[in-house]
Parts: sequence; structure tokens; C-alpha cells
Amino acid sequence: MYIVSTQKTSDFAGKMAARSMLHLSYVEKKRFPDGEMYIRVPENLRDQDVIAVGNTRTDEEILELLLLLDAIEEQKPSRTTMVVPYFGYSRQHMIYRDGESISSKVLMRAISYSVDRIITVDIHDEASFKYTDRECTDFKAAKTIAKAHRGHGIDLVVAPDDGALKRAEIVGNDLKTPSMFLHKKRINSTTVEYEKQDIDAKGKNILIVDDIISTGGTIMRSVEVLKAAGAKKVFVAATHGLFVNGAAQKISKITDGLSVTDTIMTDYSTMNVSDDVADYIGGIK
Ligand code: R5P
Repeated sequence: MYIVSTQKTSDFAGKMAARSMLHLSYVEKKRFPDGEMYIRVPENLRDQDVIAVGNTRTDEEILELLLLLDAIEEQKPSRTTMVVPYFGYSRQHMIYRDGESISSKVLMRAISYSVDRIITVDIHDEASFKYTDRECTDFKAAKTIAKAHRGHGIDLVVAPDDGALKRAEIVGNDLKTPSMFLHKKRINSTTVEYEKQDIDAKGKNILIVDDIISTGGTIMRSVEVLKAAGAKKVFVAATHGLFVNGAAQKISKITDGLSVTDTIMTDYSTMNVSDDVADYIGGIK
């Protein structure tokens, strides 16, 4: 089995390779004089079982991933498993206003063309899987998050909205603490508000768990709500740290701990979901 990765996910893929004792293949990436991208995988992958790793976050990562998948496919491997640690563009998985494109459908179809199965990590909505006929699994990072917070004396796990409750419940069950969600109302893309609700937070150490931190608006506001309700300490954990406009620095100033997984590498990516994904793939073969 070989692992091949885009540049931005090479850390994630390297940890997967080390964990599973697999070979991480070298990928040549360069630009032609006119700026067009060139990708080559010198390793002979014919009849090999290949794991490709890449995010769909930026335009550059998307193009690199598609070229990489073609370079793999052209060598005729026996099977290609696509691991997408952060499946960007998955928040637009349906039409909200007439005339829109469905970005998650576009990417799902483009990836599917060259792979046999797809593994994502906490994809924003599994509805994106309906756009592919490939075998799909969404690996849940909840247990990785729980593992990283044992010993923090957490008394309560909070989801910043109802959609995040299931994840908070899994973390809460693992940490043997109760869980709950806050009633969120999104005002616009950077502002959220919370409805008044009874929260039993007084003197408690609370862990807020979400899938994505983008602008940080959701987390900042939920920290304020929990502190106003008397929380002693508030920790924040999320799977994907996009951290737009210095969100991480702002959040870490008002909390007792901020951590995200290594699906996107940041200064706060202290939780290795890459190890757990490697174990998972090893287990299903
Ligand atoms: C919302 O449904 C998601 O789970 C996140 O809570 C949201 O995308 C975070 O965005 P932001 O950090 O910009 O509030």
C-alpha cells in the first residue's frame, strides 16, 4: 500500500504512513512559466493499493488534488482510496437560492472520477455523499477530541448549535459527562446570536465542541454565553480550524484552551485524527 499526498496534507499523510508503516511517495510539483501547475508521481503504482490524501480547501489545493488523482489513475493502481481530511466547499450541498451552483456536488463528482472509495473527516453534511456512487465513509473525530480532553476535569460538553449535538454527546459519553446544545440563530456570515435558555454552568469546567471554526463568531458568542452563566473554565475543541481573520488568537484570549485536529495544520492542531484515520483504514483494509 502506498500513500500519496498533496503538499498541504503531507503532514497528515506522513503521520498516517508512520502509524501504518506504509510508504509515503514523493510527488513532484512545479509551475510552468505561464503559471500552470504540473504534478508527477515518479513511484510505480501499477497494481498497487493506493491511499491519496488531499483537502479541498483552496483553489490551489483542489487543482493539485485533481491533477494528483489523475497522475495516480494513469498508472492503473488496483484500488485508490481518497482521504479528504477537510472537505471544503461541503457547506454548499444544496440550492438555497435560485441560480446557485452546488459546490459539494462539483467536487464530489470530480474526485469520484478517479477513485474507488472516499473517506472524509467530519464532513459538514453527509448529504454531499449523494453526489457520488463511490463507497463513502465519514470518519468522526469525536473520540479523538474526547481522548485529548481526558484529565481536563470537564463537567459538561456543549454543542454551539443543535446540529453539533450528536458530536457533543459522543464526546460527553466518552468523558462520562452530560452534554447539551445552545439555541443559536445566525444573523449573517460573521454574527450569531443565542436565545435565552437555562444553562447549569455555575462553577463548571465546560468543553465546547464543533466541527468547524471559521470566523470564530459561533465560538466567541457561545463562550460569552457560558461565562455569563457562571462557567469556571471554558475549553474549545473543533475538528477543522479554518481560523479566518485571526479567529484563533481571539478565541484563545477568552478561553482556557483551544485545540483543533490536524485535518488543517495550524498552531492549534494538537489533536492527531490522522492516527485514528490510519487505524480505521488498517481495520477495514
Ligand atoms: C455551523 O453549522 C458550523 O457547525 C460551524 O458552527 C460554523 O460553520 C462556524 O463558523 P464561524 O466560525 O464563522 O461562526
